[in-house]
Amino acid sequence: MTTALIILGAGMGTRMNSDLPKVLHPIGGAPMIVHAMRAGGGLAPEKTVIVAGHGAEAVSQAALDYDPDAQTVLQTQQLGTAHAVGCAKDALAGFKGDAVVLYGDTPFISVETLEAMAAARALHDIVVLGFEAADPGRYGRLITDGETLDRIVEFKDTNDEERAVTLCNSGVIMARSETLFDLIDSVGNANAAGEYYLTDIIAIGRAKGLSATVVVCDEAETLGINSRTELAAAEAAFQARARADALEDGVTLLAPDTVYFAYDTVLGRDAVIEQNVIFGPDVTVESGARIRAFSHLEGCHVSRGATVGPFARLRPGAELQENVHVGNFVEIKNAVLAEGAKANHLTYIGDADIGERTNIGAGTITCNYDGVFKHRTTIGADAFIGSNTMLVAPVTVGREAMTASGTVVTKDVPDGALAVGRARQDNKAGLAVQMFDKLKAAKIKQTKGS
Ligand code: UD1
Ligand code: CA
Repeated sequence: MTTALIILGAGMGTRMNSDLPKVLHPIGGAPMIVHAMRAGGGLAPEKTVIVAGHGAEAVSQAALDYDPDAQTVLQTQQLGTAHAVGCAKDALAGFKGDAVVLYGDTPFISVETLEAMAAARALHDIVVLGFEAADPGRYGRLITDGETLDRIVEFKDTNDEERAVTLCNSGVIMARSETLFDLIDSVGNANAAGEYYLTDIIAIGRAKGLSATVVVCDEAETLGINSRTELAAAEAAFQARARADALEDGVTLLAPDTVYFAYDTVLGRDAVIEQNVIFGPDVTVESGARIRAFSHLEGCHVSRGATVGPFARLRPGAELQENVHVGNFVEIKNAVLAEGAKANHLTYIGDADIGERTNIGAGTITCNYDGVFKHRTTIGADAFIGSNTMLVAPVTVGREAMTASGTVVTKDVPDGALAVGRARQDNKAGLAVQMFDKLKAAKIKQTKGS
């Protein structure tokens, strides 16, 4: 069955107390709406429609960044969840498959759960995702009769008996797209909230002879975010799960609670991650690589056998090939370090290609920025860059070439050549002793005077 996603994200999220639309607040480095899109992506949807309201332009952009085919429709007034879904009607005109309604502020629905719903859809016209609530609070209650879901009652409209029901509505609903929009056309707003409730489509559908059922998931999946406190709790839940998954996948985390993951972090089996390491988006670390304590990585790739840190920073475009060593206080950006290259201390390498087995001495800097443009530094294989070399890009250092410590490299260095570019040293015999005597005498005089 082909599927379309309808992701509701028009709510203004007043309790976030933020200029940023609620669904753009990040969890694990990705806007929460992207988490919903990722989960829904497990169903290989043919279309994705985002219903946006507050900050619609920014919401649309974030959705497009993740999925260039995502469409955003506007809900200018938040009249209820049925009205919100109705806003997607034109975008899905003529679509013959299933529609799945997800909430942009509910980031933890799993692909497996959506697959279970899709399986149940083979037997029922409408499938609702429910959960057994520890504290049912203000959730909509699912009124069932055996396998059959008869109706959903919103908290505000419940009687005592209905309020005692603990099986609650997550908000995720799956039905044939045409059926969904047909039913929504019949939804009114004569209820306690004066809203168009999506949940009303169950009773309406049942009266029309359609079948409905519930798939139950763990309550943790249905966690919705309405405040900064809930956002922080969601981040903690995300990190806890990411750590557990990494350990399960055979990654060594020396202090799991101090390692922070992004939504898309990929760590190979037997990779070792030391304490206080932070992964931003788009990082892959291959098997057997080691990330030492207090390192920060984003947008980079670390190959087998490589070591990073402690206190290293890998920025977007850093590509460390096998057995590369990047040590303390080293920053790498948009640069490839070929197999066996080493930059062990106090170095900035930006916009560069470093050859195999080349050694970058302490304090080396690629001067890649002239204030307007960025320029590239290219260094061949088996080169030796002396400590405190300034590589003024664009510049090329040949293979097996060497730069003397303190050299400011402004011209290309041919293969095998030694570049020396620093003031020549001159030794003055006995002058140090004379200097010391003079200075000490001056100090004694000063102390007596005070
Ligand atoms: C909804 C369900 C309730 C369920 C609960 C789970 C309805 C009527 N109620 O209640 O049964 O237990 O979710 O969390 O569906 N939204 C829009 N436009 C609107 C209204 C809502 O985009 O006009 C979006 C919100 O931004 C939010 C989602 O839809 O992401 C749910 O809306 P919300 O008002 O939070 O619904 P609840 O009252 O929590
Ligand atoms: Ca809600």
